[in-house]
Amino acid sequence: MPSFDEIQRAADQLRAGGIVAFPTETVYGLGADARQPKAIKAIFKLKGRPLDHPLIVHLGETTDIRGWARNIPEIAYDLADAFWPGPLTLILARGEVPDEVTGGQDSIGLRVPSHPVARELLRTFGSGIAAPSANRFGRVSPTRSEHVKTEFPKGLEIILDGGSCDVGLESTIISLLEEEPILLRPGAITLKQLERVTGQLIRAPNENNHVRASGLLASHYAPDTAVLVFDQEALGNPLKALLDGRRIALMCFDDALLKTAIKTTARVRMPGDAAAYGQILYSTLRALDSEAYDLILVEKPPETEAWRAIHDRLQKASHDSQHLLASPAFEAPHSIRS
Ligand code: TXA
Ligand code: MG
Repeated sequence: MPSFDEIQRAADQLRAGGIVAFPTETVYGLGADARQPKAIKAIFKLKGRPLDHPLIVHLGETTDIRGWARNIPEIAYDLADAFWPGPLTLILARGEVPDEVTGGQDSIGLRVPSHPVARELLRTFGSGIAAPSANRFGRVSPTRSEHVKTEFPKGLEIILDGGSCDVGLESTIISLLEEEPILLRPGAITLKQLERVTGQLIRAPNENNHVRASGLLASHYAPDTAVLVFDQEALGNPLKALLDGRRIALMCFDDALLKTAIKTTARVRMPGDAAAYGQILYSTLRALDSEAYDLILVEKPPETEAWRAIHDRLQKASHDSQHLLASPAFEAPHSIRS
């Protein structure tokens, strides 16, 4: 854990318009003073992120949201009471905020993180910290400080080390801009947990929603290595033909079942519990990605609510690899297109 002095130095860096990488309970963030447009621009430049993608502003206390949002509905406070500090982001009508933070939209994403280092930094800094995940645009989010160093070998003076992130997946994002709350990004806090508090059904986003959110792009959080998600039942000939002669890394629940079906170079046993799986998903993808496999093959997790966020991230990680299955040389079984 960083010392008192390191936190002070990080807060000074933010005040001076600099960037600081810091841990949250979800993933590491690249933070800048949310009131300084130049500092925000520097984040976009470092990440290589398009300027119209809005950033989440991280706050020390729930009461701080009044300085950043307007027309705050009652259920925002209900959700904040229930889940803050924690892995939930609320999209609200924006207050006085630089355009650079919101990507020019009339809304703002706010979150009070629970990681002790993030909290200490926010308390010391005393204002909002705008922070995207600390990865280059479109890459897997970092869940350890070493990952941040790998993403940005240059250009980042301060990386606060807070160990491994507890949640390991980005925050649940819910928009409260309309009458009906909308789930924009699934995360560790599930729809059911949210609905218990709002007393209202929460809608999943549809195509008519012109909200710009980079986490909503079909391909995102992707390693360089091709990733495919497969079903036990789909382990038929087509998949085997695809795998033949390639260096395959396998992430699976039950390796005994798979041993006979496919030859693999590496095998990682994944936890059968969704929270434990989420915690190590990105670090596992990252580790396998650094080892020059031809393909990372992921056994499809159960189709229950607890696994929604993991399905979402796996779908994004595997999006660009789907063409491997579309090759006219063979018919891919429908079930592996998960
Ligand atoms: O867990 C997290 O949310 C992490 C940690 C660092 O807090 N942050 C994170 O930030 O994942 P980022 O920028 O990688 O993803 C934030 C997502 C993006 O998809 C962004 O477009 C969306 O939140 N977002 C931010 N403000 C928004 C707004 N006003 N309306 C709609 N989407 C918004
Ligand atoms: Mg991100």
